[in-house]
Amino acid sequence: MARRPLIETAVFPVAGRGTRFLPATKASPKEMLPVVDKPLIQYAVEEALAAGARRLVFITGASKRAIEDHFDSDLELENMLKSQGKSDLVKQLHSVLPSYATCIYIRQPAPLGLGHAVLCAKPAVGSEPFFVHLADDLIDAEQPCLAQMAEVYAAKRASVIGCEVVPRKETDKYGIVEVEAPGVTARIRSIVEKPKPAAAPSNLAVVGRYLLSPSIFEHLERIGRGAGGEIQLTDGIARLLGEEAVYAHRFSGTRYDCGSKLGYLEATVAYALKHPQFGAEFRQYLRRVAEQKPARKPARKPAARGRKS
Ligand code: UTP
Repeated sequence: MARRPLIETAVFPVAGRGTRFLPATKASPKEMLPVVDKPLIQYAVEEALAAGARRLVFITGASKRAIEDHFDSDLELENMLKSQGKSDLVKQLHSVLPSYATCIYIRQPAPLGLGHAVLCAKPAVGSEPFFVHLADDLIDAEQPCLAQMAEVYAAKRASVIGCEVVPRKETDKYGIVEVEAPGVTARIRSIVEKPKPAAAPSNLAVVGRYLLSPSIFEHLERIGRGAGGEIQLTDGIARLLGEEAVYAHRFSGTRYDCGSKLGYLEATVAYALKHPQFGAEFRQYLRRVAEQKPARKPARKPAARGRKS
């Protein structure tokens, strides 16, 4: 019999409005933005499955139907491709979601914050530890980030937060942790949401990967609105710290903030460069672009002097 995975449930909060990516995200979810040939949410699901998750819980909101459609089967499209003899494309459709995975969709009534989105998952998660994955943080790593964190959990049997060192001037964009000792994995002493650089306890930032004990729900139920008027996951974790050990894990890999336009462009270039089908050709293309001299400005006519008659 197959061994039961350590962490079976992954929660994907996808109910945010993605305002940094307007107008692209006005009517379609930012999680459906493609990086080369797959939407961000597909990378997210693949990472969770690789870490052993089988139950996928999506916290959705307005304009997010496309995510449900993406993971649903589309018999009409399949039949059309089959009748055209395009079996490769049918295989690609099937690879979107393996048959052993179950999708659950829960609607967040309003975007009240990440902590509130996670709380909406409570009925589906139950009393086991679970992953939380933010699809707009795309992490390119040899061993998928959530799998790295599951290994830490196996050793510590405690919550684990994915972290990364950021420039000090950027602490006000992240949850920031203070740890008890240096190292790749360290117990968190304190956590604070988006502190100003001068007030930040460190420059170790929380990124969009969490492995949480189910006790987090009790804390999320009790906290009120925090920074930005939202129910913050960081505040829930700050309370959890008072009762249980929580570890920061500095994952190995490269993170791209695909919720920002520049981070998304960087991810697109990085993933295109390593694409098995056209990476080499794309590299040559980029070389040509980089070598291009700026177009010569047309010679300016000497300015007319004096008054026109
Ligand atoms: P962000 O603040 O990065 O995403 O939230 P956003 O609100 O969608 O984007 P901007 O800042 O307006 O551009 C982090 C994650 O939490 C989810 C988002 O979908 C994103 O994946 N989230 C946030 C929710 O699911 N619900 C919320 O109420 C807030």
